[in-house]
Amino acid sequence: MTETAVPEGVYALPVTEVKHYTDRLFFFRTERPQDFRFRSGEFVMIGLSPEIMGGKTIWRAYSVASPAWEEHVDFYSIKVPDGPLTSRLADIAVGDTVWMRKKPTGTLVHDALVPGKRLFLLCTGTGIAPFASIIRDPETYEKFEKVYLIHTCRDNAELQYGFDLVDEIANHEILAEIVGDKLVHYATCTREEPDTAKGIRAGRMTDLMRSDKLYEDLGIEPLNPETCRVMICGSMPMLKDCAEMCENAGLEEGSNSMPGQYVIERAFVG
Ligand code: A2P
Repeated sequence: MTETAVPEGVYALPVTEVKHYTDRLFFFRTERPQDFRFRSGEFVMIGLSPEIMGGKTIWRAYSVASPAWEEHVDFYSIKVPDGPLTSRLADIAVGDTVWMRKKPTGTLVHDALVPGKRLFLLCTGTGIAPFASIIRDPETYEKFEKVYLIHTCRDNAELQYGFDLVDEIANHEILAEIVGDKLVHYATCTREEPDTAKGIRAGRMTDLMRSDKLYEDLGIEPLNPETCRVMICGSMPMLKDCAEMCENAGLEEGSNSMPGQYVIERAFVG
């Protein structure tokens, strides 16, 4: 079979690294085309060639999980057993090629927030992906005094990627100094006993915020519109609950054209 030409407006990216975190979650890294520009927190459309897909490329939105300055492009994905793309993407190996549409977009970007002091990054599951980018972007620490990465997953193993990111920052020769003690990681799980030795807590972040337990654990004031900005990424019900929490605290939603105090984006599945 002859190989289909890469369509106009699409990059064919060689995969350089794959890591499976759990049966449901995996990470992959690709080369970065020299002319690919994006803002930390944005997403792109990812697909596989028609040969691999058995006929037709199916595109799905993926947040870029690496920061804008990195030389490679990272992604963090769920595996949906019957998902037309993710079930095949889960089998990719180093040396394979992934297609990526050239144009990035998204609202989980600094441009969509008005200035503040504390940045809350609220995410569930693979919703951590855009924040993997944001927490490694020096701009985040120029703009905010404190950054709270708050991640809820089903079990301890699903939280590991967040721990790896924080370790990477602590061991990075430049980022470690820029980030210092400004980044706080608060991880919780809902469907098994939390690994307290790692500092993991029990319960959904929404419950822990509504009861003030999360704020007490961190020794901080609850959300307020004067100092706090929030980025939210997760499932639809999670977005709804977190947005409601922000609204109740008096924060207003922002966008690229009208920056505000909080922004939301669906964690993409498929
Ligand atoms: P729970 O186990 O109580 O459903 P999933 O992998 O299904 O997307 O879920 C990821 C995590 O998000 C799970 O820990 C889940 O908790 C949590 N979650 C689901 N819905 C919400 C919500 N509305 N608000 C906060 N967390 C949620």
